[in-house]
This record gives sequence, structure tokens and C-alpha cells, in this order.
Amino acid sequence: MFRKLILVGCLCCCTLAIAQLGPSRAQIPTTFENLQVLPSEISSNELMDTMRGFAVGLGVTCTQCHVGEDGQPMSTFDFASDEKQSKAAARIMLRMTSDINGQHLPELPSFADTAPQATCGTCHRGQLRPKTIHQELDVAHTAGGVDQAIEKYKALRGEWYGAGAYDFRERPLILFASQFMQQGDMASTVKVLLLGAELFPDAVDSRLMLAMSFMRMGNTSEARKYAEQALAIDPDHARVQALLKQLE
Ligand code: HEC
Ligand code: HEC
Repeated sequence: MFRKLILVGCLCCCTLAIAQLGPSRAQIPTTFENLQVLPSEISSNELMDTMRGFAVGLGVTCTQCHVGEDGQPMSTFDFASDEKQSKAAARIMLRMTSDINGQHLPELPSFADTAPQATCGTCHRGQLRPKTIHQELDVAHTAGGVDQAIEKYKALRGEWYGAGAYDFRERPLILFASQFMQQGDMASTVKVLLLGAELFPDAVDSRLMLAMSFMRMGNTSEARKYAEQALAIDPDHARVQALLKQLE
């Protein structure tokens, strides 16, 4: 039971992984000394499939969790060693993922139809420490203010765009800006919205909110400018139309 629960989800990643991460099987031990979570009778193939699933799911190589050097023969690795913290964390995660698949998901009414499975990659999406873009922005903001949050966003977007790890659409920036707006911090609100307007030349929401923000700041000419941009994108947008009326 356990084996099926854990391994099924990992298999799909494997063909991809083999090319980049696949050590030659000859170098991999066939008997294992220190399995505390995986079943002791697991075959070498199944263990390797599971390990590649870990590596791909987290976007790391074997050495994240095992003592050894990237690029060196696997025979020089000490896979049984528990020296690395990430290996201990991975055991906790293995138990957690097993509980999710074995206990919690089967409680879903839809389980019989869809038999959903959580894998490491379901949460990690190629990241060692999975976070949402909201969490990343909040952490950076707490550490160094809105400018640091904007820098962090740009850096993450540069590194991760297209990877599916973060939501780089307009919406999270709008929500982040709304936080500042609620606090009356209009300077920060505008900074975040300007980034949104720059990154999304066809998006209405950043421009509508910019118009509202400038209006609130008493800058009607900037407010009108962004309301007009928004209207050019979506001429039927009722809120934009109403705002422009107010600004006349
Ligand atoms: C995210 C962490 C992580 C990554 C990445 C990882 N492993 Fe592991 N590995 C583990 C954990 C945890 C165990 C022990 C599982 C247990 O206790 O049941 C283990 C056990 C093993 C074992 C058995 C060691 C023994 O004798 O007990 C081998 C062999 C192994 N891994 C090979 C690999 C290879 C090869 C890679 C790279 C393709 C890899 N692992 C990537 C976490 C990882
Ligand atoms: C339900 C979501 C979820 C699943 C499923 C999941 N993880 Fe995690 N994992 C997390 C979160 C959240 C953290 C903490 C990230 C942080 O520290 O910011 C984490 C942390 C870790 C870490 C510690 C990273 C470090 O700092 O070294 C490892 C290793 C890890 N997970 C491995 C795995 C492996 C292997 C699997 C699959 C067996 C797995 N995770 C499945 C959510 C998940």
C-alpha cells in the first residue's frame, strides 16, 4: 500500500529526469542500509525512481540530501548517511505525503472517480522551499520595504517565469497593492501598480487602480491619464467609465 501511494506520483517525472540526473545504475547500491520510511524490500529501480522524483519535484540534485559531490561517480557517495538536514526533512515530507495520499485524499467524495495523488512536486513545483508569490513579497517587504519587494518580484520573474512555480499574472500584484491602499500608503500602492501597468500593457485593473489612487492623492491629471488608458483597452468597462465621469 505505502509503496504504491508514494511511488505512483513520482513515476511521471522520471523519464525527464533520467537525462539530467541519471547516475548509471551500476554505481547505485542494490541493498540499502538506512531506510526508515520507505519499505525495506523496495527494489533498486523503485528506489531510484522515487529519488529522481524527489530531485525533479524540488529542483535539486542528489547532493541536496546526500553526502557526495555533483559530477563525481555515485560510488563515492554515502547515501546511507543522515548528515544532511534536507534528508531528515525529506523523511518528514515522505510521511506527510503518505498520510495525505493514504488518509486524507480518500476522504474526498470525488476520490473514487479521480483518485487524486499528491506528489512532492504538487507543492514544491521545482522549488526547494515552496512559497507563493504573496509570501515572497510579504517577506521581502518586511525585510526592506516596498522597493525590496519590487526588486524581489523582478528577480523571481527573471528566474522563474514560465516554470509554473509562481503566479506571475496581474492579480497577485493587484492584491499586494491593495494591502498598501488599505493602509493609506499611496506611494507604495502606486509603485506596485506602476510595475503591473508596465508588465501588463493590455491589463485594465492596474490602470483602473492607478487612476483611483491618483484621484485619492488629488492628482486628477494622472488619474485621467490612467483611466483613459484603461478605457482604450476596454471601452465597455463600467467602472472605468464611471470614474472618468467623476474626473470630468
Ligand atoms: C529531497 C531529498 C533527497 C534527494 C534529492 C535524494 N534523496 Fe536519496 N534519500 C532521501 C531520503 C529521505 C532517503 C531515506 C528514505 C528512508 O528513510 O526510507 C534516501 C535514501 C536513498 C538511498 C538509500 C540509502 C540507504 O542505504 O539507506 C539511496 C541509494 C539514494 N537515496 C539515492 C539517491 C540518488 C541517486 C539521488 C539523486 C537522483 C537521491 N537519492 C536524491 C532523500 C533524498
Ligand atoms: C503539502 C505540500 C507539500 C508536499 C506534498 C511536500 N512538501 Fe516538502 N515542504 C513543503 C513546505 C511548505 C516546506 C517548507 C518550506 C520552507 O521552509 O519555506 C517544505 C520543505 C521541504 C524540505 C526542506 C527544504 C530545506 O530547507 O532543506 C524538503 C527537503 C522537502 N520539503 C522535501 C519534500 C519531499 C521529498 C516531498 C515528497 C515526498 C515533499 N517535500 C512533499 C510542502 C510540501
